[in-house]
Amino acid sequence: MRTDFLVIGSGIAGLTYALKTARAFPERKVTVITKTQADETNTKYAQGGIAGVWDEEKDSYHKHIEDTLVAGDGLCNEKIVEIVVTEGPERIREIITYGAEFDRDEKGEYSLGKEGGHSENRILHHKDVTGQEMERALLSEMAKVTNIELINHCFVVDIITQHHLGYLVTKSTTDITCYGVYVLNLHTNQIEKILSKITLLATGGCGQAYRTTTNPRIATGDGIAMVYRAKGRIENMEFIQFHPTALYEPGVSPSFLITEAVRGDGAVLRNKSGEAFMEKYDARKDLAPRDIVARAIDNEMKKGGTEYVYLDCRHMDKKKFIHHFPNIYEKCLRIGIDAMQQMIPVAPAAHYSCGGIKTDEWGRTSIQRLYACGECASTGLHGANRLASNSLLEAMVFGHRCFIDSEKQIDSIQYEEKIPDWKATGTTDPSEMILITQSQKELQQIMSDYVGIVRTDTRLERAMKRLDLLFTETEALYRSTKVSPQLCELRNLITVGYLIVKGAEFRKESRGLHYNTDHIQKSDLLQNIIL
Ligand code: FAD
Ligand code: SIN
Repeated sequence: MRTDFLVIGSGIAGLTYALKTARAFPERKVTVITKTQADETNTKYAQGGIAGVWDEEKDSYHKHIEDTLVAGDGLCNEKIVEIVVTEGPERIREIITYGAEFDRDEKGEYSLGKEGGHSENRILHHKDVTGQEMERALLSEMAKVTNIELINHCFVVDIITQHHLGYLVTKSTTDITCYGVYVLNLHTNQIEKILSKITLLATGGCGQAYRTTTNPRIATGDGIAMVYRAKGRIENMEFIQFHPTALYEPGVSPSFLITEAVRGDGAVLRNKSGEAFMEKYDARKDLAPRDIVARAIDNEMKKGGTEYVYLDCRHMDKKKFIHHFPNIYEKCLRIGIDAMQQMIPVAPAAHYSCGGIKTDEWGRTSIQRLYACGECASTGLHGANRLASNSLLEAMVFGHRCFIDSEKQIDSIQYEEKIPDWKATGTTDPSEMILITQSQKELQQIMSDYVGIVRTDTRLERAMKRLDLLFTETEALYRSTKVSPQLCELRNLITVGYLIVKGAEFRKESRGLHYNTDHIQKSDLLQNIIL
């Protein structure tokens, strides 16, 4: 199969790009592939909303830029922050024209929420299911375009480069080029090749590397691992964001999120003694940036010997609460908690990868003909800690920028014709699927125990040794058995785990989301760790 534009991922990043490209080139073919069904994405689960300067009387680009830089703790790329903040509102207007609806107040103006680290109300939202509404709007817009082919249940195993033509490719190769991908067609169980002129990775995050995460099953860092295997550049993987308030429900995975917007509307965190503890940690109290709130909760849980703290909404206006957060109210009721009368037990959960595939200001990766945007990319916006509700915005801004740059390149690119068929190394059926699921659980345990919110040198060293063993065992399994999505995801998660630990080991300081008690001070050297 061949396609002009190959888009891997059907979340906000992939669909933004696909729509624009297809409309600009009605005579060319755009193919979107996704490993399960089209709407099973991190995007669908986004709750709080999308940040953007909307009320220009009270808010300004300058304020949004400042808030992003403060959260990013010295590592944001200022040029990229300015690009995203200033181009963001235009992209939001676009999705509104696709039919996305955001809540309005009684005067008919957009109702703007507030979340941690924001100095103004600037979050557009659709109740507490903003991502679902945005995904719906994008998919329905895509259905109107005839030159986009959507292929569900198609698992991308690897990107194709010169390596597959028999050339030696190393980290120092300057012209690594992407010619397409090998995919596991889950309808036929065969590995097929898709040749493309331009490929966009929009494969999302990697929360599944941890035992407790808000991310759905699909979030296994596949794009990041593929680029690393292809010798492309990955950066800042040590900055894994833990959301402070996932619902505490032992044994349930993924964890249900209690959006930060609930704190934005006045909810208060309390420890097991009922103390509102955030004022001990930061002047911004419950609305401090996420790294600070998650560490404070972690500390209170350790001091109190509990597995959760409480989110207190009991003083909030019931009618307003149910109007803004109907889904959260219902979910709590289903597990026996009336949020208006009882406090909600919450604990931090792995939520977002601030690092990823290194890109420039046009979403270009270090591999030619390969772009990346959305959560799998590291554009420089988030630095050491992402500001709440900036990721949907970043995905749309960079989906657009990748499109602008691809538009300039496409005419000069030809298909590479000499791509060989996939060479299957493993031939036996994976008779012991339990080995794969068990290894994934082990990986999640290692990452949660040793590479979580608080790290030490010894914990990181221990994690690396355990990952080494898992890597060796899994590679042996990969060589001997037939490829399956589960095995590929395990391999990818181990790679992502390795990259997180490696980044954390290199960073001899505590900054943003990376907190190592052996290196509490920030170093003077402000740099990104590129792997
Ligand atoms: P995704 O939406 O995750 O899409 C990934 C796509 O890649 C999927 O289609 C998947 O099938 C495909 N894919 C992956 N690997 C492969 C493969 N190997 N082969 C084929 N296809 C593949 N951000 C905000 O800004 N505001 C919020 O309010 C907010 N709330 C959130 C709440 C929750 C519970 C979560 C989990 C995240 C939240 N975020 C929020 C973060 C935000 O939702 C994500 O960062 C963003 O949606 C990522 O979009 P994406 O397009 O990059 O990837
Ligand atoms: C939330 O709604 O709290 C999540 C927002 C985000 O991750 O940006």
